Amino acid sequence: MHRLLVQPTDVVVPPFPMAPIVFVTRPLPEPGSGLLHDLGFEVRSNVEDRPLTRAELMAGVEGSDALLCMLSDRIDAEFLDANPSLRVIANYAVGFDNIDVAAARARGIEVTTTPGVLTDATADLAWALLLAAARNLGAGERMVRAGEWTGWAPTQLLGEPLRDRTLGIVGMGSIGQAVARRAQGFGMHVVYFNRNRVSPQIEASLGADYVTFDELLRRSDFLSLHAPLNGESRHMFDSRAFALMKSTAVLVNTGRGALIDEAELVNVLHEKRIAAAGLDVYEFEPTITEGLLELENVVLAPHLGSASTLARGDMVRLCCENIVEVLAGRPAVTPAPG
Ligand code: GLV
Ligand code: GLV
Repeated sequence: MHRLLVQPTDVVVPPFPMAPIVFVTRPLPEPGSGLLHDLGFEVRSNVEDRPLTRAELMAGVEGSDALLCMLSDRIDAEFLDANPSLRVIANYAVGFDNIDVAAARARGIEVTTTPGVLTDATADLAWALLLAAARNLGAGERMVRAGEWTGWAPTQLLGEPLRDRTLGIVGMGSIGQAVARRAQGFGMHVVYFNRNRVSPQIEASLGADYVTFDELLRRSDFLSLHAPLNGESRHMFDSRAFALMKSTAVLVNTGRGALIDEAELVNVLHEKRIAAAGLDVYEFEPTITEGLLELENVVLAPHLGSASTLARGDMVRLCCENIVEVLAGRPAVTPAPG
Protein backbone atom coordinates (compact mmCIF):
# COMPACT_ATOMS: atom_id res chain seq x y z
CA MET A 1 0.00 0.00 0.00
CA HIS A 2 1.22 3.48 -0.78
CA ARG A 3 1.98 5.18 2.54
CA LEU A 4 2.92 8.75 2.09
CA LEU A 5 3.86 11.12 4.80
CA VAL A 6 5.24 14.22 3.23
CA GLN A 7 6.88 16.60 5.61
CA PRO A 8 8.03 20.03 4.51
CA THR A 9 11.58 19.11 5.46
CA ASP A 10 11.88 15.90 3.46
CA VAL A 11 10.28 16.87 0.17
CA VAL A 12 12.76 18.23 -2.29
CA VAL A 13 11.04 21.35 -3.46
CA PRO A 14 12.66 22.77 -6.56
CA PRO A 15 13.77 26.39 -6.47
CA PHE A 16 10.75 27.82 -8.26
CA PRO A 17 11.64 31.27 -9.69
CA MET A 18 8.28 32.53 -8.48
CA ALA A 19 6.06 30.77 -5.97
CA PRO A 20 3.59 28.69 -8.01
CA ILE A 21 -0.04 29.40 -7.21
CA VAL A 22 -2.26 26.64 -5.83
CA PHE A 23 -5.99 27.14 -5.51
CA VAL A 24 -7.67 25.02 -2.80
CA THR A 25 -11.45 24.74 -3.09
CA ARG A 26 -12.33 23.87 0.51
CA PRO A 27 -10.83 24.18 4.01
CA LEU A 28 -8.73 21.06 4.69
CA PRO A 29 -8.11 19.09 7.90
CA GLU A 30 -4.63 18.90 9.45
CA PRO A 31 -2.00 19.46 8.12
CA GLY A 32 -4.20 21.73 6.01
CA SER A 33 -3.30 24.04 3.17
CA GLY A 34 -0.60 25.45 5.47
CA LEU A 35 1.51 22.52 4.27
CA LEU A 36 1.42 23.97 0.75
CA HIS A 37 2.49 27.33 2.11
CA ASP A 38 5.38 25.68 3.98
CA LEU A 39 6.37 23.95 0.75
CA GLY A 40 6.83 27.32 -0.93
CA PHE A 41 3.56 27.77 -2.80
CA GLU A 42 1.31 30.78 -2.92
CA VAL A 43 -1.93 29.39 -1.57
CA ARG A 44 -5.29 30.82 -2.53
CA SER A 45 -8.30 29.16 -1.02
CA ASN A 46 -11.98 29.10 -0.39
CA VAL A 47 -12.12 29.89 3.32
CA GLU A 48 -15.83 29.12 3.64
CA ASP A 49 -16.68 25.51 4.41
CA ARG A 50 -19.11 25.02 1.54
CA PRO A 51 -18.73 23.96 -2.10
CA LEU A 52 -17.96 26.84 -4.44
CA THR A 53 -20.44 27.69 -7.15
CA ARG A 54 -19.22 27.22 -10.70
CA ALA A 55 -18.69 30.99 -11.04
CA GLU A 56 -16.75 31.20 -7.75
CA LEU A 57 -14.59 28.25 -8.74
CA MET A 58 -13.86 29.83 -12.14
CA ALA A 59 -12.98 33.17 -10.57
CA GLY A 60 -10.88 31.66 -7.78
CA VAL A 61 -8.75 29.39 -9.90
CA GLU A 62 -7.83 31.98 -12.52
CA GLY A 63 -4.07 32.21 -13.02
CA SER A 64 -3.29 29.19 -10.82
CA ASP A 65 -0.64 26.59 -11.62
CA ALA A 66 -2.30 23.90 -9.55
CA LEU A 67 -5.78 23.09 -8.30
CA LEU A 68 -6.57 21.05 -5.21
CA CYS A 69 -10.25 20.19 -5.61
CA MET A 70 -13.04 18.08 -4.12
CA LEU A 71 -15.29 15.37 -5.55
CA SER A 72 -18.07 17.99 -5.55
CA ASP A 73 -16.15 20.24 -8.00
CA ARG A 74 -17.02 19.46 -11.63
CA ILE A 75 -13.93 19.80 -13.84
CA ASP A 76 -14.94 19.58 -17.49
CA ALA A 77 -13.60 20.76 -20.85
CA GLU A 78 -15.13 24.21 -20.51
CA PHE A 79 -13.45 24.68 -17.13
CA LEU A 80 -10.12 23.45 -18.51
CA ASP A 81 -10.28 25.75 -21.56
CA ALA A 82 -10.85 28.72 -19.26
CA ASN A 83 -7.75 27.85 -17.20
CA PRO A 84 -4.78 27.31 -19.51
CA SER A 85 -2.29 28.10 -16.72
CA LEU A 86 -3.16 24.90 -14.83
CA ARG A 87 -0.59 22.11 -14.89
CA VAL A 88 -1.96 19.78 -12.27
CA ILE A 89 -5.32 19.00 -10.70
CA ALA A 90 -5.04 17.10 -7.43
CA ASN A 91 -8.42 15.57 -6.59
CA TYR A 92 -8.93 15.20 -2.84
CA ALA A 93 -10.54 11.76 -3.36
CA VAL A 94 -9.77 8.36 -4.79
CA GLY A 95 -12.77 8.54 -7.13
CA PHE A 96 -12.42 10.95 -10.05
CA ASP A 97 -15.73 10.79 -11.91
CA ASN A 98 -16.03 14.56 -11.27
CA ILE A 99 -13.11 15.22 -13.62
CA ASP A 100 -12.85 14.77 -17.38
CA VAL A 101 -9.40 13.20 -17.15
CA ALA A 102 -9.01 12.65 -20.90
CA ALA A 103 -9.83 16.31 -21.60
CA ALA A 104 -7.30 17.42 -18.97
CA ARG A 105 -4.51 15.20 -20.29
CA ALA A 106 -5.27 16.32 -23.88
CA ARG A 107 -4.46 19.84 -22.65
CA GLY A 108 -1.27 18.76 -20.90
CA ILE A 109 -2.80 18.94 -17.42
CA GLU A 110 -2.08 16.02 -15.07
CA VAL A 111 -4.83 14.70 -12.81
CA THR A 112 -4.03 12.93 -9.54
CA THR A 113 -6.09 11.09 -6.92
CA THR A 114 -5.54 9.72 -3.39
CA PRO A 115 -5.51 5.91 -3.53
CA GLY A 116 -4.20 3.77 -0.69
CA VAL A 117 -4.41 6.29 2.13
CA LEU A 118 -8.19 5.95 2.56
CA THR A 119 -8.50 2.21 1.96
CA ASP A 120 -8.91 1.12 5.59
CA ALA A 121 -11.14 4.06 6.52
CA THR A 122 -13.54 3.27 3.68
CA ALA A 123 -13.52 -0.49 4.32
CA ASP A 124 -14.30 0.16 7.99
CA LEU A 125 -17.22 2.41 7.04
CA ALA A 126 -18.59 -0.22 4.64
CA TRP A 127 -18.62 -2.67 7.54
CA ALA A 128 -20.24 -0.13 9.84
CA LEU A 129 -23.08 0.23 7.33
CA LEU A 130 -23.30 -3.50 6.67
CA LEU A 131 -23.63 -4.26 10.37
CA ALA A 132 -26.00 -1.36 10.98
CA ALA A 133 -28.27 -2.41 8.10
CA ALA A 134 -28.12 -6.11 8.99
CA ARG A 135 -29.03 -5.47 12.62
CA ASN A 136 -31.54 -2.63 12.32
CA LEU A 137 -29.30 -0.17 14.11
CA GLY A 138 -30.82 2.88 12.40
CA ALA A 139 -34.39 1.91 13.20
CA GLY A 140 -33.35 1.00 16.76
CA GLU A 141 -31.61 4.31 17.35
CA ARG A 142 -34.61 6.23 16.03
CA MET A 143 -36.85 4.27 18.43
CA VAL A 144 -34.66 5.00 21.46
CA ARG A 145 -34.28 8.70 20.62
CA ALA A 146 -38.02 9.08 20.05
CA GLY A 147 -38.66 7.75 23.57
CA GLU A 148 -40.61 4.85 22.05
CA TRP A 149 -38.53 2.01 23.45
CA THR A 150 -40.44 0.16 26.13
CA GLY A 151 -37.76 -2.42 26.90
CA TRP A 152 -36.21 -5.63 25.65
CA ALA A 153 -38.50 -7.93 23.72
CA PRO A 154 -37.91 -11.37 22.21
CA THR A 155 -39.35 -10.30 18.86
CA GLN A 156 -37.87 -6.82 18.57
CA LEU A 157 -35.97 -5.73 15.45
CA LEU A 158 -34.62 -9.13 14.49
CA GLY A 159 -31.81 -8.84 11.99
CA GLU A 160 -29.68 -11.07 9.84
CA PRO A 161 -26.65 -13.07 11.06
CA LEU A 162 -23.33 -12.88 9.22
CA ARG A 163 -21.54 -16.15 9.94
CA ASP A 164 -21.60 -18.65 7.06
CA ARG A 165 -23.40 -16.13 4.85
CA THR A 166 -22.04 -14.93 1.53
CA LEU A 167 -20.63 -11.46 0.99
CA GLY A 168 -20.52 -10.32 -2.64
CA ILE A 169 -18.02 -7.61 -3.46
CA VAL A 170 -18.40 -5.56 -6.63
CA GLY A 171 -15.07 -3.95 -7.54
CA MET A 172 -12.04 -5.79 -6.14
CA GLY A 173 -9.51 -2.97 -5.99
CA SER A 174 -7.72 -2.14 -2.77
CA ILE A 175 -10.90 -1.11 -0.92
CA GLY A 176 -12.83 -4.19 -2.06
CA GLN A 177 -9.91 -6.33 -0.91
CA ALA A 178 -9.81 -4.63 2.49
CA VAL A 179 -13.53 -5.31 2.88
CA ALA A 180 -12.98 -8.96 1.92
CA ARG A 181 -10.15 -9.28 4.46
CA ARG A 182 -12.46 -8.13 7.26
CA ALA A 183 -15.09 -10.71 6.19
CA GLN A 184 -12.78 -13.48 7.38
CA GLY A 185 -13.21 -12.29 10.96
CA PHE A 186 -16.98 -12.65 10.59
CA GLY A 187 -16.71 -16.18 9.17
CA MET A 188 -18.30 -15.26 5.84
CA HIS A 189 -17.87 -16.66 2.34
CA VAL A 190 -16.70 -14.08 -0.17
CA VAL A 191 -17.47 -13.90 -3.89
CA TYR A 192 -16.49 -10.99 -6.08
CA PHE A 193 -17.00 -9.46 -9.47
CA ASN A 194 -14.48 -7.14 -11.09
CA ARG A 195 -13.73 -6.11 -14.65
CA ASN A 196 -10.46 -7.98 -14.32
CA ARG A 197 -9.95 -11.05 -12.20
CA VAL A 198 -7.38 -10.46 -9.41
CA SER A 199 -4.37 -12.75 -9.03
CA PRO A 200 -4.80 -16.30 -7.70
CA GLN A 201 -2.54 -15.32 -4.77
CA ILE A 202 -4.86 -12.48 -3.75
CA GLU A 203 -7.94 -14.66 -4.25
CA ALA A 204 -6.40 -17.37 -2.06
CA SER A 205 -5.33 -14.97 0.70
CA LEU A 206 -8.84 -13.48 0.82
CA GLY A 207 -10.66 -16.77 0.29
CA ALA A 208 -12.60 -14.97 -2.44
CA ASP A 209 -14.17 -16.65 -5.49
CA TYR A 210 -14.52 -14.83 -8.81
CA VAL A 211 -18.04 -15.03 -10.24
CA THR A 212 -20.07 -13.31 -12.94
CA PHE A 213 -22.10 -10.28 -11.92
CA ASP A 214 -25.37 -12.23 -12.23
CA GLU A 215 -24.05 -15.10 -10.14
CA LEU A 216 -22.91 -12.64 -7.49
CA LEU A 217 -26.41 -11.13 -7.43
CA ARG A 218 -28.03 -14.54 -7.06
CA ARG A 219 -25.68 -15.88 -4.39
CA SER A 220 -24.95 -12.92 -2.11
CA ASP A 221 -26.61 -12.35 1.24
CA PHE A 222 -24.69 -9.08 1.60
CA LEU A 223 -23.33 -6.94 -1.23
CA SER A 224 -20.76 -4.17 -0.96
CA LEU A 225 -19.96 -1.82 -3.86
CA HIS A 226 -16.44 -0.61 -4.57
CA ALA A 227 -16.34 -0.18 -8.34
CA PRO A 228 -15.42 3.16 -9.89
CA LEU A 229 -18.28 5.10 -11.49
CA ASN A 230 -18.01 5.27 -15.27
CA GLY A 231 -20.15 4.70 -18.35
CA GLU A 232 -20.13 0.95 -17.81
CA SER A 233 -20.89 0.89 -14.10
CA ARG A 234 -23.58 3.60 -13.95
CA HIS A 235 -26.87 2.01 -12.80
CA MET A 236 -25.27 -1.43 -12.54
CA PHE A 237 -27.97 -1.95 -9.92
CA ASP A 238 -31.12 -1.44 -11.96
CA SER A 239 -34.45 -3.29 -11.99
CA ARG A 240 -32.84 -6.23 -13.81
CA ALA A 241 -30.13 -6.59 -11.18
CA PHE A 242 -32.51 -6.19 -8.24
CA ALA A 243 -34.74 -8.93 -9.69
CA LEU A 244 -31.87 -11.40 -9.41
CA MET A 245 -31.08 -10.59 -5.76
CA LYS A 246 -32.31 -12.52 -2.73
CA SER A 247 -35.27 -11.00 -0.91
CA THR A 248 -33.12 -11.21 2.25
CA ALA A 249 -30.14 -9.39 0.69
CA VAL A 250 -28.50 -6.34 2.27
CA LEU A 251 -26.91 -3.86 -0.15
CA VAL A 252 -24.11 -1.51 0.98
CA ASN A 253 -22.75 1.35 -1.13
CA THR A 254 -19.67 3.34 -0.15
CA GLY A 255 -18.54 3.77 -3.79
CA ARG A 256 -20.58 6.21 -5.84
CA GLY A 257 -24.33 6.78 -5.66
CA ALA A 258 -24.99 6.40 -9.38
CA LEU A 259 -23.83 2.78 -9.35
CA ILE A 260 -27.42 2.28 -8.19
CA ASP A 261 -30.63 3.45 -9.85
CA GLU A 262 -31.73 5.16 -6.65
CA ALA A 263 -35.40 5.63 -7.63
CA GLU A 264 -35.62 1.90 -8.27
CA LEU A 265 -33.85 1.16 -4.97
CA VAL A 266 -36.58 3.11 -3.16
CA ASN A 267 -39.24 0.86 -4.79
CA VAL A 268 -37.29 -2.28 -4.05
CA LEU A 269 -36.77 -1.41 -0.37
CA HIS A 270 -40.36 -0.24 0.00
CA GLU A 271 -41.69 -3.51 -1.42
CA LYS A 272 -39.13 -5.51 0.62
CA ARG A 273 -37.78 -7.11 -2.55
CA ILE A 274 -34.44 -6.88 -0.73
CA ALA A 275 -34.15 -6.68 3.04
CA ALA A 276 -32.14 -3.53 3.64
CA ALA A 277 -29.51 -1.12 2.41
CA GLY A 278 -26.71 0.96 3.89
CA LEU A 279 -25.73 4.01 1.86
CA ASP A 280 -22.85 6.42 2.23
CA VAL A 281 -23.15 7.92 -1.26
CA TYR A 282 -26.11 9.13 -3.32
CA GLU A 283 -26.97 9.44 -6.97
CA PHE A 284 -27.79 13.15 -6.71
CA GLU A 285 -25.60 13.99 -3.73
CA PRO A 286 -26.32 15.85 -1.50
CA THR A 287 -29.96 15.62 -2.62
CA ILE A 288 -31.62 12.45 -1.32
CA THR A 289 -34.00 10.74 -3.73
CA GLU A 290 -37.64 11.07 -2.75
CA GLY A 291 -38.93 8.24 -0.61
CA LEU A 292 -35.57 7.16 0.79
CA LEU A 293 -35.86 9.16 4.02
CA GLU A 294 -39.20 7.56 4.91
CA LEU A 295 -37.90 4.00 4.76
CA GLU A 296 -37.00 2.15 7.96
CA ASN A 297 -34.87 -0.47 6.20
CA VAL A 298 -32.10 1.82 5.00
CA VAL A 299 -29.18 3.29 6.94
CA LEU A 300 -28.06 6.66 5.59
CA ALA A 301 -24.59 8.11 6.16
CA PRO A 302 -23.38 11.49 4.84
CA HIS A 303 -20.45 10.35 2.61
CA LEU A 304 -18.10 9.50 5.47
CA GLY A 305 -16.05 6.75 3.79
CA SER A 306 -12.66 8.43 4.07
CA ALA A 307 -13.58 10.51 7.11
CA SER A 308 -10.98 9.35 9.62
CA THR A 309 -8.40 11.79 10.98
CA LEU A 310 -5.56 9.65 9.62
CA ALA A 311 -7.03 9.18 6.13
CA ARG A 312 -8.06 12.78 5.64
CA GLY A 313 -4.63 14.03 6.79
CA ASP A 314 -2.78 11.62 4.52
CA MET A 315 -5.03 12.71 1.63
CA VAL A 316 -3.80 16.28 2.15
CA ARG A 317 -0.18 15.09 2.16
CA LEU A 318 -0.65 13.00 -0.97
CA CYS A 319 -2.32 15.86 -2.86
CA CYS A 320 0.56 18.16 -1.87
CA GLU A 321 3.21 15.69 -2.95
CA ASN A 322 1.49 15.22 -6.30
CA ILE A 323 1.43 18.99 -6.83
CA VAL A 324 5.13 19.31 -5.94
CA GLU A 325 6.13 16.50 -8.26
CA VAL A 326 4.17 17.65 -11.29
CA LEU A 327 5.18 21.30 -10.96
CA ALA A 328 8.81 20.16 -10.64
CA GLY A 329 8.44 18.38 -13.98
CA ARG A 330 8.49 14.91 -12.45
CA PRO A 331 5.84 12.16 -12.79
CA ALA A 332 2.88 12.36 -10.45
CA VAL A 333 3.00 10.00 -7.47
CA THR A 334 -0.58 8.81 -7.91
CA PRO A 335 -1.92 9.85 -11.32
CA ALA A 336 -5.57 9.10 -12.01
CA PRO A 337 -5.75 5.69 -13.71
CA GLY A 338 -6.48 5.62 -17.44
C1 GLV B 1 -14.55 9.59 -1.76
O1 GLV B 1 -15.67 9.28 -2.06
C2 GLV B 1 -13.39 9.38 -2.57
O2 GLV B 1 -13.55 9.04 -3.76
O3 GLV B 1 -12.30 9.55 -2.05
C1 GLV C 1 -14.59 -2.54 -11.31
O1 GLV C 1 -15.36 -3.44 -11.45
C2 GLV C 1 -13.16 -2.57 -11.57
O2 GLV C 1 -12.75 -3.23 -12.52
O3 GLV C 1 -12.42 -1.93 -10.80
